[in-house]
Amino acid sequence: MKILLTGGLGYIGSHTAVELLNHHHEVIIVDNLANSSLSVLDRLKKITHQEIPFYQIDVANKVELEPVFLHHTFDAIIHFAGLKAVGESVAKPLEYYQNNVLATLNLASFSIKYGVHKFVFSSSATVYGDQPSPLIETMELKTTTNPYGETKAMSERILTDAAKANPPFSVSLLRYFNPIGAHESALIGENPNGIPNNLMPYITKVAKGELKELQIYGQDYPTIDGTGIRDYIHVVDLAKGHIAALNKMKSAVNIYNLGTGKGVSVLELVTAFQNVNHVRVPYKVVGRRPGDLAIVYADPGKAKRELGWETSKTIEDMCRDAWNFEKQNV
Ligand code: NAD
Ligand code: WQD
Repeated sequence: MKILLTGGLGYIGSHTAVELLNHHHEVIIVDNLANSSLSVLDRLKKITHQEIPFYQIDVANKVELEPVFLHHTFDAIIHFAGLKAVGESVAKPLEYYQNNVLATLNLASFSIKYGVHKFVFSSSATVYGDQPSPLIETMELKTTTNPYGETKAMSERILTDAAKANPPFSVSLLRYFNPIGAHESALIGENPNGIPNNLMPYITKVAKGELKELQIYGQDYPTIDGTGIRDYIHVVDLAKGHIAALNKMKSAVNIYNLGTGKGVSVLELVTAFQNVNHVRVPYKVVGRRPGDLAIVYADPGKAKRELGWETSKTIEDMCRDAWNFEKQNV
């Protein structure tokens, strides 16, 4: 298939590009470099030994986007492009709605106009809101606690309505849990700007000595050791989930959780990281982070049954690969 990857130089998009090329698909990347750099394109070439056509454009801008559809005939779109910092979305809600919702609207419109029938969307477990885990696709969505989450819920609704009204246009809404880790080459991985908000990039900076200590947000949750529980998924397993979704798209709207189904606490992750990598991660427990939920993990059964996809990498793999990437690059 010939596939357009929006946001394909970002963390998840770049890993998915590698998997697609390994499976002999043709890939075209568009990205405005808002949270990535051109060096990722060189690294993708090093890993795959292939040239990847790239356009530096803003997909929220119709005028910049349309020529890509005029120059190429795509079989599918995987839409990763978006802003994703939860805290920043609370401070700058209009930028988030403008960027993320317009990007989805533009891409859906051009997919229909230019006859692209398969559309895979990067959604998030955050759309479930505060509901008991395991989270399952049949649950009704609850209001999320931040504008970022709302842009994902809105994009899901826009794509669902568009697919219902425009057969054979079909969408897969992939709800990611907590992607961490990096490609085994250590050439691509997660490289956030500034001080990281998310747990794993913070841990790797502390392990490297660039940040003094990890702050664990709360040890009074009703969990095994009092710290928050999440469903961490290796980014390469996640990337493979996109290929499974593309290959098995069967109805107008397909919704899948991409997670492991296993909850891991903050302290368990820190301990695994230290043991696997033989490195210290000093930490102190502080108060809860506003908006955090105690326990979030997936029921991944539908993706296994319908897509034949399941994760294969362990927490140890995730910790080792995240550290290798950090040590060798950032
Ligand atoms: P990322 O920031 O590394 O990648 C996103 C890419 O999109 C970046 O390269 C950025 O430059 C680009 N981009 C942003 N707005 C754009 C625009 N208007 N036009 C063109 N390019 C644009 O993030 P990621 O972690 O790879 O996430 C990819 C997608 O998955 C995002 O939509 C994100 O919301 C979603 N998601 C991420 C996570 C996570 O924890 N990483 C979890 C759930 C969902
Ligand atoms: C994980 C756990 C924290 C940092 C966010 C978004 C979500 C999704 C993934 C895109 C929690 C704890 C964290 C730290 C800590 N993104 N923590 N100290 O909050 O599950 O999800 O990223 O869709 O929408 O909300 O991920 O990595 O920030 O936190 O103790 O310095 O680590 O409290 O329990 P989260 P996270």
